Amino acid sequence: MRVDAAVAWGASRLTEAGVEAPRRTALWLLEHAADITPTAAVAYPERLLDEGERAAFEAAVERRASGVPLQHIVGEQEFHGLAFEVTPAVLIPRAETEILVESAIARWRERAGNGKWIVDVGTGSGCIPVVLARECAGARVAAVDVSAPALEVARRNAIRHSADVHFVTGDLLSAVSGPFAVVTANLPYIPDGDIPELQREVRDHDPRLALAGGPDGLDLYRRMLADVSRVLTPDGALFCEIGAGQAEAYSRIAAEHGLRLVESLDDHAGIPRVMVVERR
Ligand SMILES: C[S@@+](CC[C@H](N)C(=O)[O-])C[C@H]1O[C@@H](n2cnc3c(N)ncnc32)[C@H](O)[C@@H]1O
Repeated sequence: MRVDAAVAWGASRLTEAGVEAPRRTALWLLEHAADITPTAAVAYPERLLDEGERAAFEAAVERRASGVPLQHIVGEQEFHGLAFEVTPAVLIPRAETEILVESAIARWRERAGNGKWIVDVGTGSGCIPVVLARECAGARVAAVDVSAPALEVARRNAIRHSADVHFVTGDLLSAVSGPFAVVTANLPYIPDGDIPELQREVRDHDPRLALAGGPDGLDLYRRMLADVSRVLTPDGALFCEIGAGQAEAYSRIAAEHGLRLVESLDDHAGIPRVMVVERR
């Protein structure tokens, strides 16, 4: 089969399955399956796929058509300019989480805390601590997750990007004592009742442990906010990513635990997405 015919078939199969950006996806899958870049596919449309390449490409297209996320097929997702390994054990890093990472880096640089500790809670693929370890000069970085399989992926990502991160298995902050100058967390925050309505790629392929946050989505943040003062330095700050419509409840819970909101950052859709709190 010629490359142009393969791409046309792939794009049409993906269109039929309701997949976004079908032609671009077909080109990415061809690169993954047959090592033919999108540029080469366009430049040499007459190139013939051998039997193995054709079978691998068709299998990849069928997986994507059945709802498997592209990132699980190619095995990685870019975050903050770095490629992170992803498997079904971890959440695929999202663009909005870059807002959290950038604000934590800015804070670190303003207050230059040489030798102080940062901890990321609910680390998943490790995208947050890996970027912080690379960008926050002088920081010592820890990362916690309750999922041992997620931490295996995070460890590989830290090695891949030469990031010195100390990984801990545990429930929220229970296994660490600090003191931490910066605590970051993108914990599960989807209300349980909203899970059936999520896109199939998220609902069926991101781990439920990475999504479900109890009846109003704030169960994990409730527990985290109740405990965080124990591990924060006196001038430390907690950076959390939250879901749409949760900002008010989050600030109220923080205030109940002696924390004050110092910053709220919107995502590109104007939704308050990152809350920064400090001890009062
Ligand atoms: C929404 S994902 C975020 C992953 C990663 N931080 C990111 O931004 O891509 C939430 C993560 O929290 C972890 N998690 C869930 N409950 C936890 C708990 N009680 N203690 C620690 N981690 C938890 C999940 O295993 C998952 O990796």
